[in-house]
Amino acid sequence: MALKIERVLAWEALDSRGTPTVACAISLAGGAEGQAAVPSGASTGSHEAHELRDGGSRFGGKGVRSAVAAVNGEIAQALRGGDAGDQEATDDLLRHLDGTPTLERLGANAVLAVSTACALAAADAHGLPLWRYLAAEEGPPLLPLPMVNVLSGGAHAGGLIDVQDVLVVPVGAGSFAEAIEWAARIRAAAVDVFRERGNSGALVADEGGLAAALSSNREAITVVAAAIERSGLVPGEQVAIAVDVAATQFQEGADYRFAVEDRSLRRDELVAELRSWCDEYPIVSVEDPVGEDDTDGWKLASERLADVQLLGDDLFVTSTERLAAGIANGIANAVLVKPNQVGTLSDTRRLIELARSAGYATVLSARSGDTEDSWLADLAVGWRTGQLKVGSTTRSERTAKWNRLLRLESEYAEARFAGREVLAPAQDFTAAMLRP
Ligand code: PGA
Ligand code: ZN
Repeated sequence: MALKIERVLAWEALDSRGTPTVACAISLAGGAEGQAAVPSGASTGSHEAHELRDGGSRFGGKGVRSAVAAVNGEIAQALRGGDAGDQEATDDLLRHLDGTPTLERLGANAVLAVSTACALAAADAHGLPLWRYLAAEEGPPLLPLPMVNVLSGGAHAGGLIDVQDVLVVPVGAGSFAEAIEWAARIRAAAVDVFRERGNSGALVADEGGLAAALSSNREAITVVAAAIERSGLVPGEQVAIAVDVAATQFQEGADYRFAVEDRSLRRDELVAELRSWCDEYPIVSVEDPVGEDDTDGWKLASERLADVQLLGDDLFVTSTERLAAGIANGIANAVLVKPNQVGTLSDTRRLIELARSAGYATVLSARSGDTEDSWLADLAVGWRTGQLKVGSTTRSERTAKWNRLLRLESEYAEARFAGREVLAPAQDFTAAMLRP
């Protein structure tokens, strides 16, 4: 059945940092509706699709009235009367209407709001939750293994440490609910660990985790490892550690600058440092170990850290072209997937298909500026991404996603929780994820 688009309405809303973002509602003939607001990053890759901002003085130049006007004008006119049930056609139309490779004219923020609202409206028309509408085949939901932020640094925490994210991965949890309970317990324990170390001023960072001044980056891993033990959980067995180095953020020419340690590292020294962290702590995933265009560094990291999940975020920016180049170069073994880095749901899904065909793991991810929407959780389930990273267990824009999955686990007795088999490197994680 054709799902006729009747009305497209966008407005300027606020994200979790209080920065403007694009929200959009799409109504169909017959009354179905979908609404979505888009997220926004702080440590963005330079190859991401273009986020359209107004400039000028409103909101420090970060207003999105121009993107909103693009939706309410040009985009609404092109979409009205179209079929919301044909997501590919809608996304193609958006891309062609824009006419630039990185959505510079209309803005990836405008385009993603429309693309997502369209999918939600179509799901509503079918009386289906978004995950079910998106699922290629019938089957029970696969709840993703969460990667949960505990400690932040870099652009998410005023540069208190240089690495951006130290996270926990509850690899031994028996259910999604147990995984979240463990992560919350560890976050609380980390507060105690800080207090004991005389560092009582731990603050809440952009993704709901903790931010505190430390004298080295390695110390951040030590604190999280101590918090796991303090929680009565077995490091490595029950809960492992993931690090988002976000090295692009502290790259200086060919070198890398650990500001808190007043130390510059060559790429081989940075990789050696990460190797020693992986040897000392139960680290299962390292994201952006070197800069986004440091191909030699990525090759070195892929050799030296081949036993862990090597996740490309700024490296791949959810681009099939950049991922294809990475696959050809044999770098990384997993891809971080952020819909707003590319602009449409169809492009995001194609990226996931490419990753899967090459045996790369997929980690769907929120942004550091996010919203109270929970559609990202449905994408993780519907597309069976296997892993999901949305921040910590506090702040409502984070819990909105976890809470959505907690509901799905309660609602569908047959729901399966992805275990450690979804982490790269693995021989069979794709098969494991696709197994009903
Ligand atoms: P961002 O950070 O949303 O600020 O880009 C998230 C990440 O780097 O994974
Ligand atoms: Zn990242």
